[in-house]
Formats: sequence, structure tokens, C-alpha cells
Amino acid sequence: MADTRSIAVIGATGAQGGGLVRAILKDPESGFSVRALTRNVNSEKAKALAELGAEVIAADVDDVESLKRAFEGAYGAYCVTFFWEHFSPEKENAQAAGMAQAAKHAGLQHVIWSTLEDTRRWVPLDDDRMPTLMEKYKVPHFDSKGEANHFFTDLGLPVTFLLTSFYWDNFIHFGMGPKKGSDGKLALTLPMDDKKLPGMAAEDIGKCAHGIFKKGGDYIGKTVGVSGEHLTGAEMAAAFSKSLGQQVSYNAVPPQVYRGFGFPGAEDLGNMFQFKRDFQEAFCGARNPEVAKSLNPELKTFDDWLSENKDRIPL
Ligand SMILES: NC(=O)c1ccc[n+]([C@@H]2O[C@H](COP(=O)([O-])OP(=O)(O)OC[C@H]3O[C@@H](n4cnc5c(N)ncnc54)[C@H](OP(=O)(O)O)[C@@H]3O)[C@@H](O)[C@H]2O)c1
Repeated sequence: MADTRSIAVIGATGAQGGGLVRAILKDPESGFSVRALTRNVNSEKAKALAELGAEVIAADVDDVESLKRAFEGAYGAYCVTFFWEHFSPEKENAQAAGMAQAAKHAGLQHVIWSTLEDTRRWVPLDDDRMPTLMEKYKVPHFDSKGEANHFFTDLGLPVTFLLTSFYWDNFIHFGMGPKKGSDGKLALTLPMDDKKLPGMAAEDIGKCAHGIFKKGGDYIGKTVGVSGEHLTGAEMAAAFSKSLGQQVSYNAVPPQVYRGFGFPGAEDLGNMFQFKRDFQEAFCGARNPEVAKSLNPELKTFDDWLSENKDRIPL
């Protein structure tokens, strides 16, 4: 179609980007087409996107020239970084800078930057309620994204800052779901006390991004936070119990215990949950399920997500 406006999607074979690619392809009336960026155009996931109708383009976020080529002539871009591939905030920062440069070079009309809070605004490095990590961060994978916002504004890009939420999919893929204790009973372990955790189906992030692109200029220059629901650990445990048909209790551990669990990223995630716990009002306040629903009418609640995914949760 000659008059479709194409959106270049970074991370197209992943959770956020994949949701956006599928949302665009399912809605040809919106007038958008999609460029799915991947390092490997021959992977199974890339081929599946091509079969759905995406233009699949090779690009590596460590290679700015490849991003410039992939963005050339596009209308917009979805920009996301992949902290858990390398655990390096500096690398994430450099990749975001490259995305902003490529967007400027291509003269894009709308860029969505998938970002998170720089928690150091709330917890300065000398605040010892949580440890400083990697010398200059409190929550490295949050701080580096928030810090990178300026790359987009410095270049005067037409940007929307998209504040994402905890993926409920982490209960499947990230080992965060209910686990059996020594008593054989299932428990959901989170260091959130009785505070609410904004969460959502990962697929819904891309669908919300699609909604933002469809609104034209309405969200340019704005920050929009999305989530499906804000739930306490006890509420999520109750929903698990109902859905799985077996009792799941909520095991609220202190953040320092969670930081000591020893898996890669445990300290980062321990600080992250503590930040969400201690600054619940600001964190939940920045993410509005009603706004998310207005962008994506198919937005899932936790019960919706569980009914579709309960059999995929490793117990
Ligand atoms: N898990 C959560 O709850 C959560 C919540 C909010 C935000 N986040 C943030 O989400 C981000 C990750 O997004 P995601 O979950 O959508 O990622 P994902 O599902 O892990 O997908 C990663 C995709 O990124 C692509 N990729 C990796 N390195 C690349 C590179 N150098 N150049 C180009 N593409 C590359 C890979 O595609 P190819 O192999 O095809 O190249 C891969 O399919 C993280 O930074 C994380 O902090 C996570």
C-alpha cells in the first residue's frame, strides 16, 4: 500500500515489540505498516513475523548505522533496550543514544521510548535505605532508562515516553511465579509488604503503543504510564489460588532478603520492588489502567491473563 506509514519496531521478536508488531498487523485500517527489526532475519520468530505480513529488517541496536538504515523513510519507531541481555546500564544508555540519533537522522514523526523511572530522583545515592549498585545506581535497569530520556529530548524529537509495568509473564519466564516450600505448599514470594504492584500482560504494552501511534500527535511530548491492574501480593496470591485450584499464599519477604536470593539481578530487583513498595503512590499514580484501556480496549486484567496462561506457569 503506497500510503501506509511504517513504524520501525525494535525488539520485534521480543515481548514489547512483538505485541506492537502483531497489533499493527491486525489493524490494517489504522493505515500503519510495520518494519520488524531483528539481528537475525532467518530466525523462526523473524520468519513468523514475515508470514504475518511484517517487513523484516536486519538491525542491531549496537550499530547506529544499521538503525539509521532501518529507520530511513519510516513514519515512526518503537525504541526499547534489553537490559537483561547484558546487565549493563552504560550499554543500555549508549543504545538509547544511538536510537535517538538514528531517529533524528531519519526525521521520524513519532518516536515511542519505552522507559522507566530514574529512581535516584526519589532515592539519592547517599540514601542508605537501599544499597547503591554498580557505584552509581539504585535500580540499574530503571535508572539507566530514565537517565536516557534526555537523548530524545536533547535532539528535539517528537517523542512519547512510555512508562511500562511489571509483566505478569514474569510468572512464566522469569521464575517469579508461586513455588512449593518445604511444606509442599505454594507461595508467591515478593518483597512488597501490603503495597500494590502495577502489572500487565506483556503483549498489552505493544497494544498500548499501537494506540499511542494511532492518536497521532496527542501523546507527543508526553509521558504515559500503562498497567493492567495494581494488585497487592495477597490479591495476586488469591487470584492464583482461584485460577490454579490450589491454595497459594503470599510470602512477603523484606527487600534485603530478596536481594540476597543470589540469582543474577536479585539485588537490582530487590531494590526495584523496594522502590515500588516505598513509593507506591508515585509509582502507581504514574500508571493508569484507565488510560491503558483507552489506548487498548483489549487490555487484560490479572484474572483474564491467568485464565489464558495458568497452564504455562511452572509450579
Ligand atoms: N520483565 C518485565 O517485567 C519488564 C517490565 C518493564 C520493562 N521491562 C524492560 O523490557 C526490556 C526488554 O524488552 P522485552 O521484554 O520486550 O525484550 P525481550 O522479550 O527479551 O526481547 C528481546 C528481543 O530484543 C532483541 N535484541 C536483543 N539484543 C538486540 C540487539 N543488540 N539489537 C537488536 N535487537 C536485539 C532480540 O531480537 P533478535 O534476537 O531477533 O535480534 C529479542 O527478541 C528490558 O530492558 C526490561 O528492563 C521489563
